[in-house]
Amino acid sequence: MTHPAPIHDTVHFLRERITRAPHAVLVLGSGLGGLADEIEDPVAIPFDQIPGFPRRTQELAGHAGRLVAGRLEGVEVAAMQGRFHLYEGWSPADVALPVRALAALGAEVMLLTNAAGGLRPGMQPGDLMLMADHINLMWKNPLAGQVVPGEQRFPDMSDPYDRGFRAEAEAAALELGIPITQGVYAALLGPSYETPAEIRMLGRLGADAVGMSTVPEVLVARAMGMKCLGISCITNLAAGLGGAVLSHDEVMEVGARVRDRLAALVRGVLPRVAGLNLASEAAA
Ligand code: HPA
Repeated sequence: MTHPAPIHDTVHFLRERITRAPHAVLVLGSGLGGLADEIEDPVAIPFDQIPGFPRRTQELAGHAGRLVAGRLEGVEVAAMQGRFHLYEGWSPADVALPVRALAALGAEVMLLTNAAGGLRPGMQPGDLMLMADHINLMWKNPLAGQVVPGEQRFPDMSDPYDRGFRAEAEAAALELGIPITQGVYAALLGPSYETPAEIRMLGRLGADAVGMSTVPEVLVARAMGMKCLGISCITNLAAGLGGAVLSHDEVMEVGARVRDRLAALVRGVLPRVAGLNLASEAAA
C-alpha cells in the first residue's frame, strides 16, 4: 500500500511565510517560468528549502525551482517556477505534493503551462494550445494508494480542463490578439522523446500534442475539486514530422520566444477564471 507523503510540515511552513492565502496556483513549465518574476509583493522560496518537497540533487537548465507567492492581476497566486517530473525519478506522490500543499492553503484554481511537441497537422513551433483533454500514457497515477482526506477515491475526469475556463481563455486570447487552438495532450513518462512510430500511434489515439508533465498534477487537483486550465506551448513538431532531431535546447529556445505571449495570456485569463473580472469592474 502506498502512503502519500504527509504534507502537514509543508503546509505549516508555507502558512508561516505566505500570509495571504493563494487563490490560484500557477505551474510554469520548461522555459516558461519568467512570469513568476512579475508577481507583486513576492515571497519566493526555493523548493529545496520547503519541508517535504522533493530534494533535487542537480538543476536542469530552465527549471529554476522556486515557489513564488504574491499578487498577479489582483489575484493572490502561488507560482511553481519549475515543477517536478516523473522522468526525474520522483514518485507520482512527490510530483503531486506541491498541489496538495497549495490546495491545503486554500487554492481553488490551477493554471498549468507546459512545453509540448505538436502532432496535429498544421501545428507550428510557437503555437499555443489550450488543453481540452488529456490521455494519460504515463501509466502512473498519484491517486493510487491510500485516499488522502479531502480527495475522492474515484474522481470524475469528464472535464479535467474546465470548459468554462477554456472559454474564458479563448475570450482573453481573442481580446489580446493571441492565436490559440484547443487540443488533446498525451502525457508520456519520458525522458526520451518519442519515436516516429510512437507519434503515429499517438495521432491515431486522438492526441494533438505530446509532453511529459501536467497530468499528475491535474489528477490530484481534480480529486480535490480544484478547477484547472492547461496551456501547452508547442515548442517543436513531434518526432518524425519535422525531419529535425529533437533537442531540449530547441524546446527552451521556442519557449523563450513565446514567453511574452504566454505571459500575456495567463495575465489576461487569470482574473477571469479567478472570478474577479477586475478590468470590467474598474471600467464600470
Ligand atoms: N515530446 C515530448 N515532450 C516534449 C516535446 C516532445 O516532442 N516537446 C516538448 N516537450
